Parts: sequence; C-alpha cells; structure tokens
Amino acid sequence: MKLISRRAALSTVSAVGSVALLSGCLPQNSNPGASLAKTGAKVGTLRDFPSVGSFIETELADTPAVVIRLEKASKEGLSIGEVHLIALSKVCTHLGCLVNAPKAAVLGCACHGSLFDANTGAATRGPAGTPLASFKLEARSDGIYAVG
Ligand code: FES
Repeated sequence: MKLISRRAALSTVSAVGSVALLSGCLPQNSNPGASLAKTGAKVGTLRDFPSVGSFIETELADTPAVVIRLEKASKEGLSIGEVHLIALSKVCTHLGCLVNAPKAAVLGCACHGSLFDANTGAATRGPAGTPLASFKLEARSDGIYAVG
C-alpha cells in the first residue's frame, strides 16, 4: 500500500474543489424544495412577470433557480388566471453546471449542451437524461411563494 503525505492529500482535495468551483458545477439534489415546505420563500408578485417568457432568477433552498412565465399551464407549475408560472432548479441534471437563462422556453447548459423544456423541466437533448428539479408554487395574498 502506498502512503501519501497529508500535504499531498490536502493538495489533491483542494485541486478537485477548485475545479468544481471553476466549472460552476453544484451538487445535484432531486428534491431541493423539501426544506421550503414549512414557511415557503417569496419569489415575487404577478407584476414581476409582465409577459410570456419573463423570468426571475433567484435562489430557493440554497439552490439557484428560475421562475418563468409560460404560455400555457404546466402540471409542474402554478396558474393564476392567464398567468402560468413554473419554478425550476438551474442545476443541470447531467453534472451540475448551471443552465442559462431561458430563451424561447428552452434552458440550455453550456457545459455539455443539454437542453431542457421550460414548460416541464424535461431534458430534450442529452447528455442530461432527467428533468430539472421543480419547486411547488403557491399564490398567497402578498405574492407567489415556493413551498416545496
Ligand atoms: S453539466 Fe449540463 S450538460 Fe453536462
């Protein structure tokens, strides 16, 4: 068995961490909204989504996220009259890079080219094979909250 020095071990750990930080990759969590269930987190009001395609980038449960106004209702989202919203994690399900802001209802990951449908979070082009995690939204008297 080969022994390595503490210095060599720390150097390796530091290098790996630096690569992860530089690449913008984050740990993946299939249910990032679980910690929001008790109190929720306000993401905005209807005025923050004036037209289809408007969006807010935010952080929900320590996860970079985006709330997008959609053209049609989504079963993963929330509809308030004619305003249809969805909240998605921005953490790519391939290796954890952050996806770009939505364009024409598509979120793209620059790391390896995966594409996701903003209407559902579904991966429409790999290498990612699973959808972006979604957050449950709820309308309250003072705004829109992510609640799970
Ligand atoms: S991390 Fe997004 S496509 Fe690889």
